[in-house]
Amino acid sequence: MSNPAGVSAEKIPRHIAVIMDGNGRWARERGLPRIEGHRRGSESVRNCTAACMEAGVSFLTLYAFSKENWQRPPDEVKSLMGLLDRFLAERTAEIMERNIRLRAIGHLDDLPEKTRRRLETAMEKSAGNTALTLTLALSYGARTELADAARAIAREVRAGTLDPDTIGEATVSSHLYTADLPDPDLLIRTSGEMRISNFLLWQISYAEIVVTPKLWPEFGKEDLFAAIREYAGRHRRYGGI
Ligand code: FPP
Repeated sequence: MSNPAGVSAEKIPRHIAVIMDGNGRWARERGLPRIEGHRRGSESVRNCTAACMEAGVSFLTLYAFSKENWQRPPDEVKSLMGLLDRFLAERTAEIMERNIRLRAIGHLDDLPEKTRRRLETAMEKSAGNTALTLTLALSYGARTELADAARAIAREVRAGTLDPDTIGEATVSSHLYTADLPDPDLLIRTSGEMRISNFLLWQISYAEIVVTPKLWPEFGKEDLFAAIREYAGRHRRYGGI
């Protein structure tokens, strides 16, 4: 049986991760301020989440703000934090209604106090929801995540609770921010850039990558479904034949 994305249900990726890129270019092409691109981008977040639910995707992880993004002009950083704050204030009710579990990965302590509290409240409230796990990567960097994991593992070794000879891939995975998430099956990047930009470096080892020329503010449901179809048509080999 075919689902709304046009592929059979067993070919739907369980976990989709997205590098949302091109907000600034979308605004520039229209002679608008960059923040208008981000504002439209947050509408795409809503559309993409709804489309994932329609297609039966269980996990969606969005790269909303990187560790490196703090280096943008202070005005832009402030506007992005404002948008996140507004998203949480305005969308938490909808998140609950749609049975979405909201999570976040990254150095959440870097966020403005008010926004961090709003985020924590939304995460606590939605912790028992089951339709889709929506994870926002905020002040996130994959290398930082790996360094954090190495430090946590080293501490356990020093405390005598972990035998270094038993450290394997599962040990590393279980010390990442994503310990409770499956690895992404499909990684989508918008705006045509062929880069990973320090996103989920460990977790995407076997993910299929789809890069679309569409800019994030114009990435809609049909674009998500098209990416799912491309994924479904690929043969994943995991290093085998
Ligand atoms: C990349 O566009 C996008 C970002 C740096 C931030 C993504 C943020 C949003 C979609 C809005 C807020 C998010 C939530 C969860 C409410 P860019 O500025 O790098 O675009 P450019 O490469 O064209 O300049």
